[in-house]
Amino acid sequence: MSEKIQAIRGMHDILPDQTPSWQGVEQSFRQVLAAYGYQEIRLPIVEKTELFKRSIGEVTDIVEKEMYTFDDRNGDSLTLRPEGTAGCLRACLEHGLLHQPSQRLWYMGPMFRHERPQKGRYRQFQQMGVEAYGMEGPAIDAELILLTRRLWKTLGIAHKLELQINSLGTLEERLVYREKLVEYFRAHVDALDDDSKRRLETNPLRILDSKNPNLAEVVQGAPSLAEYLGEESRNHFQALTSSLDNAALAYTVNPRLVRGLDYYCRTVFEWVTTELGAQGTVCAGGRYDGLIAQLGGKPSHAIGFALGVERLIDLLDNPARFDEAVCPHAYFIRVGSEAEGSGALLAEQLRDALPNLRLVVHCDGGSFKSQFKRADKSGAGLALILGEDEVRDSAIGIKNLRKDGEQFTLKQSELIPYLQSLL
Ligand code: HAM
Repeated sequence: MSEKIQAIRGMHDILPDQTPSWQGVEQSFRQVLAAYGYQEIRLPIVEKTELFKRSIGEVTDIVEKEMYTFDDRNGDSLTLRPEGTAGCLRACLEHGLLHQPSQRLWYMGPMFRHERPQKGRYRQFQQMGVEAYGMEGPAIDAELILLTRRLWKTLGIAHKLELQINSLGTLEERLVYREKLVEYFRAHVDALDDDSKRRLETNPLRILDSKNPNLAEVVQGAPSLAEYLGEESRNHFQALTSSLDNAALAYTVNPRLVRGLDYYCRTVFEWVTTELGAQGTVCAGGRYDGLIAQLGGKPSHAIGFALGVERLIDLLDNPARFDEAVCPHAYFIRVGSEAEGSGALLAEQLRDALPNLRLVVHCDGGSFKSQFKRADKSGAGLALILGEDEVRDSAIGIKNLRKDGEQFTLKQSELIPYLQSLL
Protein backbone atom coordinates (compact mmCIF):
# COMPACT_ATOMS: atom_id res chain seq x y z
CA MET A 1 0.00 0.00 0.00
CA SER A 2 1.25 3.51 -0.71
CA GLU A 3 2.25 5.69 2.20
CA LYS A 4 -0.38 8.25 3.21
CA ILE A 5 0.43 11.87 2.57
CA GLN A 6 -0.01 14.11 5.60
CA ALA A 7 -0.77 17.81 5.94
CA ILE A 8 2.14 20.25 6.30
CA ARG A 9 3.31 20.88 9.87
CA GLY A 10 1.51 23.88 11.36
CA MET A 11 -1.24 23.81 8.70
CA HIS A 12 -4.47 22.31 9.95
CA ASP A 13 -7.65 20.94 8.51
CA ILE A 14 -10.79 22.36 10.04
CA LEU A 15 -13.03 19.32 10.37
CA PRO A 16 -16.83 19.15 10.11
CA ASP A 17 -17.29 19.04 13.89
CA GLN A 18 -15.31 22.29 14.17
CA THR A 19 -16.82 24.21 11.26
CA PRO A 20 -20.02 25.22 13.11
CA SER A 21 -17.99 27.35 15.57
CA TRP A 22 -16.03 28.84 12.67
CA GLN A 23 -19.23 29.70 10.86
CA GLY A 24 -20.73 31.13 14.06
CA VAL A 25 -17.71 33.37 14.66
CA GLU A 26 -17.63 34.46 11.01
CA GLN A 27 -21.32 35.31 11.11
CA SER A 28 -20.92 37.38 14.29
CA PHE A 29 -17.97 39.21 12.72
CA ARG A 30 -19.97 39.98 9.56
CA GLN A 31 -22.93 41.15 11.61
CA VAL A 32 -20.88 43.48 13.82
CA LEU A 33 -18.99 44.92 10.84
CA ALA A 34 -22.24 45.57 8.98
CA ALA A 35 -23.57 47.36 12.06
CA TYR A 36 -20.67 49.84 11.75
CA GLY A 37 -20.94 50.25 7.96
CA TYR A 38 -17.83 48.30 6.91
CA GLN A 39 -17.64 46.60 3.50
CA GLU A 40 -15.91 43.37 2.59
CA ILE A 41 -12.87 43.25 0.32
CA ARG A 42 -11.47 39.94 -1.01
CA LEU A 43 -7.77 39.85 -1.74
CA PRO A 44 -5.27 37.47 -3.35
CA ILE A 45 -3.33 35.11 -1.09
CA VAL A 46 -0.13 35.67 -3.07
CA GLU A 47 1.50 39.08 -3.56
CA LYS A 48 4.86 40.34 -4.82
CA THR A 49 7.49 39.83 -2.12
CA GLU A 50 8.50 43.47 -2.42
CA LEU A 51 5.10 44.57 -1.05
CA PHE A 52 5.69 42.90 2.31
CA LYS A 53 9.33 43.99 2.52
CA ARG A 54 8.36 47.61 1.94
CA SER A 55 5.40 47.64 4.32
CA ILE A 56 6.09 45.25 7.21
CA GLY A 57 9.78 46.25 7.22
CA GLU A 58 13.01 44.48 6.19
CA VAL A 59 14.21 43.93 9.73
CA THR A 60 11.15 42.37 11.29
CA ASP A 61 10.79 38.71 12.30
CA ILE A 62 8.11 38.25 9.67
CA VAL A 63 10.20 39.44 6.73
CA GLU A 64 13.55 38.10 7.96
CA LYS A 65 12.48 34.65 9.04
CA GLU A 66 8.87 33.77 8.48
CA MET A 67 7.72 34.40 4.93
CA TYR A 68 6.86 31.66 2.46
CA THR A 69 8.66 33.14 -0.53
CA PHE A 70 9.23 31.48 -3.88
CA ASP A 71 10.05 32.31 -7.49
CA ASP A 72 7.19 31.60 -9.87
CA ARG A 73 7.71 30.30 -13.40
CA ASN A 74 8.45 33.80 -14.70
CA GLY A 75 11.17 34.24 -12.10
CA ASP A 76 9.14 36.81 -10.08
CA SER A 77 9.58 36.61 -6.34
CA LEU A 78 6.18 36.00 -4.74
CA THR A 79 5.10 35.48 -1.13
CA LEU A 80 2.13 33.83 0.56
CA ARG A 81 0.65 36.73 2.49
CA PRO A 82 1.79 36.77 6.14
CA GLU A 83 -0.90 39.37 6.97
CA GLY A 84 -3.63 41.36 5.24
CA THR A 85 -2.84 45.06 5.77
CA ALA A 86 -0.26 45.40 2.98
CA GLY A 87 -2.41 43.60 0.38
CA CYS A 88 -5.50 45.57 1.32
CA LEU A 89 -3.70 48.87 0.90
CA ARG A 90 -2.11 47.72 -2.36
CA ALA A 91 -5.57 46.88 -3.71
CA CYS A 92 -7.04 50.20 -2.57
CA LEU A 93 -4.23 52.16 -4.22
CA GLU A 94 -4.48 50.11 -7.39
CA HIS A 95 -8.26 50.61 -7.72
CA GLY A 96 -8.45 54.22 -6.57
CA LEU A 97 -10.50 53.38 -3.47
CA LEU A 98 -8.61 55.99 -1.48
CA HIS A 99 -9.99 58.79 -3.65
CA GLN A 100 -13.04 58.62 -1.39
CA PRO A 101 -12.71 60.79 1.72
CA SER A 102 -12.92 57.66 3.87
CA GLN A 103 -13.13 53.91 3.46
CA ARG A 104 -14.07 51.21 5.96
CA LEU A 105 -13.16 47.68 4.88
CA TRP A 106 -12.89 44.16 6.28
CA TYR A 107 -11.51 40.83 5.07
CA MET A 108 -11.01 37.34 6.33
CA GLY A 109 -8.83 34.49 5.16
CA PRO A 110 -5.69 32.45 5.65
CA MET A 111 -2.29 33.98 6.39
CA PHE A 112 1.07 32.17 6.32
CA ARG A 113 4.09 32.51 8.60
CA HIS A 114 6.89 30.00 9.00
CA GLU A 115 6.94 30.18 12.81
CA ARG A 116 7.64 27.33 15.24
CA PRO A 117 4.21 25.72 15.59
CA GLN A 118 2.67 25.35 19.04
CA LYS A 119 -0.79 25.72 20.52
CA GLY A 120 -2.26 28.96 19.16
CA ARG A 121 0.62 29.49 16.74
CA TYR A 122 0.38 27.98 13.29
CA ARG A 123 2.00 28.29 9.88
CA GLN A 124 -1.34 28.71 8.18
CA PHE A 125 -3.80 30.58 10.36
CA GLN A 126 -6.95 32.52 9.81
CA GLN A 127 -7.31 36.25 10.37
CA MET A 128 -10.29 38.54 10.33
CA GLY A 129 -9.07 42.03 9.63
CA VAL A 130 -10.42 45.56 9.43
CA GLU A 131 -8.82 48.60 7.79
CA ALA A 132 -10.13 52.17 7.80
CA TYR A 133 -8.62 54.90 5.59
CA GLY A 134 -8.67 58.65 5.38
CA MET A 135 -9.57 59.55 8.98
CA GLU A 136 -7.05 61.56 10.93
CA GLY A 137 -8.66 62.10 14.32
CA PRO A 138 -8.84 59.64 17.22
CA ALA A 139 -12.59 58.98 16.72
CA ILE A 140 -11.86 56.15 14.32
CA ASP A 141 -9.28 54.67 16.73
CA ALA A 142 -12.03 54.52 19.35
CA GLU A 143 -14.55 53.12 16.86
CA LEU A 144 -12.32 50.16 16.05
CA ILE A 145 -11.80 49.37 19.71
CA LEU A 146 -15.54 49.65 20.47
CA LEU A 147 -16.30 47.45 17.51
CA THR A 148 -13.95 44.72 18.78
CA ARG A 149 -15.54 44.95 22.23
CA ARG A 150 -18.95 44.47 20.63
CA LEU A 151 -17.67 41.35 18.91
CA TRP A 152 -16.37 39.92 22.22
CA LYS A 153 -19.73 40.67 23.82
CA THR A 154 -21.62 39.01 20.97
CA LEU A 155 -19.46 35.91 21.40
CA GLY A 156 -19.69 35.97 25.21
CA ILE A 157 -15.93 36.29 25.78
CA ALA A 158 -15.62 39.96 26.82
CA HIS A 159 -14.71 38.98 30.39
CA LYS A 160 -11.68 37.01 29.15
CA LEU A 161 -10.01 39.82 27.22
CA GLU A 162 -8.08 42.84 28.38
CA LEU A 163 -7.26 45.85 26.25
CA GLN A 164 -3.73 47.25 26.17
CA ILE A 165 -2.98 50.49 24.36
CA ASN A 166 0.02 52.67 23.67
CA SER A 167 1.12 55.50 21.42
CA LEU A 168 4.19 55.07 19.22
CA GLY A 169 4.17 58.73 18.19
CA THR A 170 5.18 59.87 14.71
CA LEU A 171 8.13 58.53 12.77
CA GLU A 172 10.16 61.65 13.65
CA GLU A 173 9.37 61.32 17.36
CA ARG A 174 10.31 57.68 17.27
CA LEU A 175 13.67 58.43 15.62
CA VAL A 176 14.67 60.71 18.48
CA TYR A 177 13.51 58.12 21.00
CA ARG A 178 15.34 55.37 19.13
CA GLU A 179 18.65 57.20 19.60
CA LYS A 180 18.05 57.52 23.36
CA LEU A 181 17.07 53.89 23.55
CA VAL A 182 20.18 52.69 21.70
CA GLU A 183 22.31 54.84 24.00
CA TYR A 184 20.67 53.24 27.04
CA PHE A 185 20.94 49.64 25.81
CA ARG A 186 24.57 50.18 24.70
CA ALA A 187 25.32 51.13 28.28
CA HIS A 188 23.68 47.84 29.41
CA VAL A 189 24.82 45.64 26.56
CA ASP A 190 26.05 42.87 28.88
CA ALA A 191 22.51 42.32 30.12
CA LEU A 192 21.18 41.69 26.57
CA ASP A 193 20.73 38.32 24.88
CA ASP A 194 22.00 37.64 21.34
CA ASP A 195 18.69 38.42 19.73
CA SER A 196 18.49 41.79 21.46
CA LYS A 197 22.11 42.63 20.62
CA ARG A 198 21.25 42.08 16.98
CA ARG A 199 18.10 44.18 17.33
CA LEU A 200 20.10 46.97 18.93
CA GLU A 201 21.54 47.69 15.47
CA THR A 202 18.43 46.97 13.42
CA ASN A 203 15.19 47.46 15.36
CA PRO A 204 15.91 48.50 18.97
CA LEU A 205 12.26 49.16 19.88
CA ARG A 206 11.60 45.46 19.54
CA ILE A 207 13.92 44.81 22.52
CA LEU A 208 11.15 46.34 24.67
CA ASP A 209 8.88 43.57 23.47
CA SER A 210 11.34 40.75 24.34
CA LYS A 211 9.76 37.68 25.93
CA ASN A 212 13.07 36.73 27.65
CA PRO A 213 12.47 37.05 31.44
CA ASN A 214 16.19 37.71 32.01
CA LEU A 215 15.76 40.99 30.19
CA ALA A 216 12.83 42.20 32.26
CA GLU A 217 14.91 44.36 34.57
CA VAL A 218 16.95 46.13 31.91
CA VAL A 219 13.81 46.69 29.81
CA GLN A 220 12.03 48.08 32.86
CA GLY A 221 14.74 50.72 33.30
CA ALA A 222 14.72 51.85 29.65
CA PRO A 223 13.54 55.38 28.77
CA SER A 224 9.86 55.55 27.94
CA LEU A 225 8.61 56.56 24.50
CA ALA A 226 5.82 58.58 26.15
CA GLU A 227 8.39 61.19 27.20
CA TYR A 228 9.35 61.78 23.57
CA LEU A 229 5.87 62.27 22.13
CA GLY A 230 5.09 65.68 20.67
CA GLU A 231 2.00 67.67 21.59
CA GLU A 232 -0.18 66.40 18.73
CA SER A 233 0.59 62.76 19.46
CA ARG A 234 -0.11 63.31 23.15
CA ASN A 235 -3.43 65.04 22.39
CA HIS A 236 -4.43 62.27 20.02
CA PHE A 237 -3.75 59.63 22.66
CA GLN A 238 -5.46 61.63 25.37
CA ALA A 239 -8.58 62.05 23.22
CA LEU A 240 -8.64 58.31 22.58
CA THR A 241 -8.39 57.44 26.27
CA SER A 242 -11.20 59.94 27.06
CA SER A 243 -13.44 58.27 24.46
CA LEU A 244 -12.71 54.87 25.97
CA ASP A 245 -13.42 56.24 29.46
CA ASN A 246 -16.72 57.70 28.26
CA ALA A 247 -17.67 54.35 26.80
CA ALA A 248 -16.77 52.66 30.13
CA LEU A 249 -14.21 50.56 28.31
CA ALA A 250 -11.38 49.49 30.61
CA TYR A 251 -7.80 49.49 29.28
CA THR A 252 -4.21 49.41 30.43
CA VAL A 253 -1.63 51.77 28.98
CA ASN A 254 1.34 49.54 28.27
CA PRO A 255 4.36 51.67 27.35
CA ARG A 256 6.23 48.52 26.22
CA LEU A 257 3.65 47.68 23.56
CA VAL A 258 5.53 48.28 20.30
CA ARG A 259 4.12 45.65 17.85
CA GLY A 260 6.17 43.46 15.55
CA LEU A 261 5.50 45.25 12.26
CA ASP A 262 7.25 48.47 11.30
CA TYR A 263 4.37 50.38 9.75
CA TYR A 264 2.68 51.60 12.93
CA CYS A 265 2.53 55.15 14.30
CA ARG A 266 0.57 56.74 17.15
CA THR A 267 -2.17 54.44 18.48
CA VAL A 268 -1.40 50.73 18.84
CA PHE A 269 -3.55 48.25 20.73
CA GLU A 270 -3.83 44.59 21.61
CA TRP A 271 -6.57 42.49 23.18
CA VAL A 272 -4.86 39.89 25.33
CA THR A 273 -5.99 36.97 27.45
CA THR A 274 -4.35 34.91 30.17
CA GLU A 275 -6.33 31.82 29.14
CA LEU A 276 -4.30 30.73 26.14
CA GLY A 277 -0.79 30.41 27.55
CA ALA A 278 2.06 31.99 25.60
CA GLN A 279 -0.06 32.91 22.55
CA GLY A 280 -2.32 35.28 24.45
CA THR A 281 -2.77 38.06 21.88
CA VAL A 282 -6.11 37.51 20.22
CA CYS A 283 -6.45 40.77 18.32
CA ALA A 284 -3.93 43.48 17.48
CA GLY A 285 -3.58 46.59 15.40
CA GLY A 286 -3.02 50.28 15.24
CA ARG A 287 -2.53 53.34 13.10
CA TYR A 288 -0.19 53.28 10.09
CA ASP A 289 -0.56 56.72 8.54
CA GLY A 290 2.87 56.66 6.86
CA LEU A 291 2.34 53.48 4.88
CA ILE A 292 0.09 54.93 2.18
CA ALA A 293 2.80 57.30 0.96
CA GLN A 294 5.41 54.58 1.42
CA LEU A 295 3.51 52.41 -1.06
CA GLY A 296 3.23 55.25 -3.57
CA GLY A 297 -0.10 56.82 -2.57
CA LYS A 298 -1.02 60.39 -1.67
CA PRO A 299 -0.28 60.80 2.06
CA SER A 300 -3.38 59.98 4.10
CA HIS A 301 -4.45 58.19 7.26
CA ALA A 302 -4.98 54.55 8.06
CA ILE A 303 -5.76 52.33 11.00
CA GLY A 304 -6.73 48.69 11.37
CA PHE A 305 -6.49 45.49 13.30
CA ALA A 306 -6.56 41.74 12.76
CA LEU A 307 -7.69 38.96 15.03
CA GLY A 308 -6.53 35.36 15.03
CA VAL A 309 -9.58 33.16 14.53
CA GLU A 310 -8.02 29.98 16.00
CA ARG A 311 -7.23 31.84 19.22
CA LEU A 312 -10.67 33.41 19.34
CA ILE A 313 -12.34 30.02 18.94
CA ASP A 314 -10.18 28.57 21.73
CA LEU A 315 -11.70 31.21 24.01
CA LEU A 316 -15.33 30.27 23.37
CA ASP A 317 -17.01 28.77 26.42
CA ASN A 318 -19.57 26.64 24.73
CA PRO A 319 -18.65 26.05 21.10
CA ALA A 320 -21.32 23.32 20.88
CA ARG A 321 -23.99 26.05 20.90
CA PHE A 322 -23.18 26.72 17.25
CA ASP A 323 -24.00 23.10 16.30
CA GLU A 324 -27.71 23.93 16.55
CA ALA A 325 -27.41 26.07 13.45
CA VAL A 326 -26.17 23.21 11.26
CA CYS A 327 -27.81 20.06 12.71
CA PRO A 328 -30.42 18.60 10.34
CA HIS A 329 -34.01 19.24 11.33
CA ALA A 330 -35.08 15.91 9.88
CA TYR A 331 -33.63 12.64 8.65
CA PHE A 332 -35.63 10.91 5.94
CA ILE A 333 -35.83 7.11 6.23
CA ARG A 334 -37.04 5.21 3.16
CA VAL A 335 -37.39 1.45 2.94
CA GLY A 336 -38.24 -0.33 -0.32
CA SER A 337 -37.76 0.77 -3.90
CA GLU A 338 -41.14 2.49 -4.19
CA ALA A 339 -40.47 4.49 -1.05
CA GLU A 340 -37.06 5.48 -2.38
CA GLY A 341 -38.61 6.75 -5.60
CA SER A 342 -41.54 8.69 -4.17
CA GLY A 343 -39.51 9.77 -1.12
CA ALA A 344 -36.94 11.47 -3.37
CA LEU A 345 -39.71 13.49 -4.99
CA LEU A 346 -41.30 14.33 -1.65
CA ALA A 347 -37.95 15.52 -0.28
CA GLU A 348 -37.56 17.90 -3.22
CA GLN A 349 -41.10 19.24 -2.66
CA LEU A 350 -40.24 19.89 0.99
CA ARG A 351 -37.10 21.75 -0.02
CA ASP A 352 -39.10 23.80 -2.56
CA ALA A 353 -41.66 24.78 0.05
CA LEU A 354 -39.30 25.19 3.04
CA PRO A 355 -35.93 26.55 1.89
CA ASN A 356 -34.72 26.80 5.52
CA LEU A 357 -35.43 23.16 6.27
CA ARG A 358 -32.27 21.08 6.77
CA LEU A 359 -33.25 17.63 5.55
CA VAL A 360 -30.91 14.64 5.17
CA VAL A 361 -32.23 11.86 2.96
CA HIS A 362 -30.86 8.41 3.70
CA CYS A 363 -29.34 7.26 0.43
CA ASP A 364 -27.68 3.92 1.01
CA GLY A 365 -30.54 1.50 1.76
CA GLY A 366 -30.78 -0.93 4.68
CA SER A 367 -33.48 -1.92 7.19
CA PHE A 368 -35.64 0.45 9.28
CA LYS A 369 -33.43 -0.42 12.27
CA SER A 370 -30.15 0.47 10.61
CA GLN A 371 -31.61 3.67 9.13
CA PHE A 372 -32.98 4.72 12.54
CA LYS A 373 -29.50 4.27 13.99
CA ARG A 374 -28.10 6.60 11.36
CA ALA A 375 -30.94 9.07 11.98
CA ASP A 376 -30.03 9.16 15.69
CA LYS A 377 -26.36 9.68 14.91
CA SER A 378 -27.09 12.54 12.51
CA GLY A 379 -28.26 14.74 15.39
CA ALA A 380 -31.58 15.37 13.59
CA GLY A 381 -34.61 16.33 15.67
CA LEU A 382 -37.10 14.26 13.66
CA ALA A 383 -37.19 11.12 11.58
CA LEU A 384 -39.51 11.08 8.56
CA ILE A 385 -40.42 7.51 7.74
CA LEU A 386 -41.62 6.15 4.43
CA GLY A 387 -42.20 2.40 3.97
CA GLU A 388 -44.53 0.39 1.74
CA ASP A 389 -47.59 1.10 3.92
CA GLU A 390 -47.05 4.82 3.96
CA VAL A 391 -46.51 4.93 0.19
CA ARG A 392 -49.75 3.02 -0.30
CA ASP A 393 -51.68 5.43 1.99
CA SER A 394 -49.95 8.66 0.81
CA ALA A 395 -48.88 9.04 4.44
CA ILE A 396 -45.62 9.70 6.28
CA GLY A 397 -44.43 8.45 9.66
CA ILE A 398 -42.87 10.96 12.08
CA LYS A 399 -40.79 10.29 15.17
CA ASN A 400 -39.25 12.83 17.50
CA LEU A 401 -35.66 11.65 18.00
CA ARG A 402 -34.78 14.03 20.82
CA LYS A 403 -37.72 13.49 23.14
CA ASP A 404 -38.89 9.95 23.66
CA GLY A 405 -41.89 10.63 21.44
CA GLU A 406 -44.32 8.14 20.01
CA GLN A 407 -44.24 7.56 16.30
CA PHE A 408 -47.31 8.94 14.56
CA THR A 409 -48.57 9.24 11.03
CA LEU A 410 -49.66 12.24 8.97
CA LYS A 411 -51.08 12.58 5.51
CA GLN A 412 -48.27 13.64 3.13
CA SER A 413 -50.37 16.70 2.30
CA GLU A 414 -50.15 17.74 5.97
CA LEU A 415 -46.38 17.42 6.16
CA ILE A 416 -45.35 20.87 4.89
CA PRO A 417 -47.56 22.83 7.35
CA TYR A 418 -46.44 20.49 10.16
CA LEU A 419 -42.72 21.05 9.47
CA GLN A 420 -43.27 24.76 8.93
CA SER A 421 -44.77 25.05 12.41
CA LEU A 422 -41.52 23.60 13.84
CA LEU A 423 -39.04 25.81 11.99
P1 HAM B 1 -0.28 40.66 13.97
O1 HAM B 1 -0.11 41.12 15.37
O2 HAM B 1 0.94 40.16 13.30
O3 HAM B 1 -0.87 41.90 13.18
O4 HAM B 1 -1.40 39.55 13.89
C1 HAM B 1 -2.70 39.80 14.35
C2 HAM B 1 -3.25 38.57 15.06
O5 HAM B 1 -3.16 37.42 14.22
C3 HAM B 1 -2.47 38.17 16.31
O6 HAM B 1 -2.86 38.93 17.42
C4 HAM B 1 -2.87 36.71 16.46
O7 HAM B 1 -4.13 36.59 17.09
C5 HAM B 1 -2.98 36.25 15.02
N1 HAM B 1 -1.75 35.54 14.63
C6 HAM B 1 -0.59 36.08 14.21
N2 HAM B 1 0.32 35.12 13.93
C7 HAM B 1 -0.30 33.94 14.17
C8 HAM B 1 0.09 32.55 14.07
N3 HAM B 1 1.30 32.20 13.62
N4 HAM B 1 -0.81 31.60 14.41
C9 HAM B 1 -2.05 31.94 14.86
N5 HAM B 1 -2.48 33.22 14.96
C10 HAM B 1 -1.61 34.20 14.63
C11 HAM B 1 -1.18 41.89 11.86
O8 HAM B 1 -1.21 40.90 11.18
C12 HAM B 1 -1.57 43.24 11.33
N6 HAM B 1 -1.83 43.11 9.88
C13 HAM B 1 -2.82 43.76 12.04
C14 HAM B 1 -3.27 45.08 11.51
C15 HAM B 1 -4.25 45.31 10.63
N7 HAM B 1 -2.72 46.24 11.79
C16 HAM B 1 -3.34 47.19 11.12
N8 HAM B 1 -4.27 46.63 10.40
